[in-house]
Amino acid sequence: MTDMVSSPSRTIDIEELGFDRGAHLLIKRALSGGAVGERLGIRGRDAALAVHLRAWCRSQGHEIIWPEMPPAEAATTESSPLIAWVVRGSAPEVRWRGAEQAGLPDSLVQGAVNDHPPATWGLAARGARVEAGGPEFFFGLNSKEQVWAEGIPRLYAQAAAAQWNPATAIDWGEPFELAPEIESAVVQVMTYLIENENAALLVPARFIAQIHPHFREVMQLLAIQVADEARHVEVFTRRALLRGSELGFSTVGGQASLKTLLDEPDFTLASFLLSVLGEGTFLNLLWFLQQHGPDPVTRRVAQLAAQDEARHVAFGMGHLQYQISKDGTTLGRLAAAVDRRHEALAHTAGLNEEVFDALILLAAGDWSPDAIAKGFSEVQRLKQEMDADRQARLIRLGFPADEAAGLSALHTRNFM
Ligand SMILES: [Fe+2]
Ligand SMILES: [Fe+2]
Repeated sequence: MTDMVSSPSRTIDIEELGFDRGAHLLIKRALSGGAVGERLGIRGRDAALAVHLRAWCRSQGHEIIWPEMPPAEAATTESSPLIAWVVRGSAPEVRWRGAEQAGLPDSLVQGAVNDHPPATWGLAARGARVEAGGPEFFFGLNSKEQVWAEGIPRLYAQAAAAQWNPATAIDWGEPFELAPEIESAVVQVMTYLIENENAALLVPARFIAQIHPHFREVMQLLAIQVADEARHVEVFTRRALLRGSELGFSTVGGQASLKTLLDEPDFTLASFLLSVLGEGTFLNLLWFLQQHGPDPVTRRVAQLAAQDEARHVAFGMGHLQYQISKDGTTLGRLAAAVDRRHEALAHTAGLNEEVFDALILLAAGDWSPDAIAKGFSEVQRLKQEMDADRQARLIRLGFPADEAAGLSALHTRNFM
């Protein structure tokens, strides 16, 4: 192809290329360089070029002028015959008139993320030019304040980099011997963990679909969080079934506690109850299992899950800190959510006795009175650490110390 500039009009030679094989791309490109009303000569040798060019120009709003000389005579030794002159119309400009740029791709650039992206930006990439007149999408979480967290691109990058493969990250065949009752205690704890992981998977999954995709990093981060929980469900199930085929008990108190998380319709309140209080408390539990787990597989799955949970807590904290900075009523709403949940669960037992006893047994390691006493005090210490860490997070969010202590004490006895 050769571009020939013959002032005042330009010509383009598309040689053998026809509209059946992409000729419009070259013509469009040549036209885009000119102004409305400018002439572009089209040279080419495809037999159907004139017919196709006429139809294409009509569809694109360009005028066509046929040369006075027959095409065969318009050919020179170096170039193809001149088929027609195309006079550039204004339709392409009209089409993109009113198009809006949907922010900027890089959220670290000031103003890249819109506080209230329009519904018509819909699924468009952040930073795209969005043609006017598109469909309106409904996204319930459509303001930055509702979902954002400072530093979220970094949190997403960390989450993407930290994915692990359950098949290879754990040595499932590592040999160990456990007394049957200790193995049962492990299975009971795993059974309990799995139902908590189910809740931790479903709560963010239900919110993802409500988030305006303009808040790309939040959507992506929560998608990875859901994938993390899917792996946790898998590895806890595999550990439970490693030496047998039966799972332990699921209790009314445990399920009632988790149901209040699924029933919370507000994203910020759900993040607070699930990620800051629930997953925060679970971090202590997983560290406990990493330390006191009676076999290497249990210790390893707890360690891997804890690494992921730390990120879930970090996003929950980041989001709440962002929202608190934007809305002065947030702390009051968070406190009210803890009270409401406590009221709703007041009649339930909280952590099931089977799980509590299993944790003591894991930390004890055997049935001697001394060992049981040691296991019991380890579990008491676990509960104290959970409480202390919850209070520390609440204080970081801005609660006064006495209120933080009061709210932490009202947290569900189910831990999550
Ligand atoms: Fe998890
Ligand atoms: Fe989690």
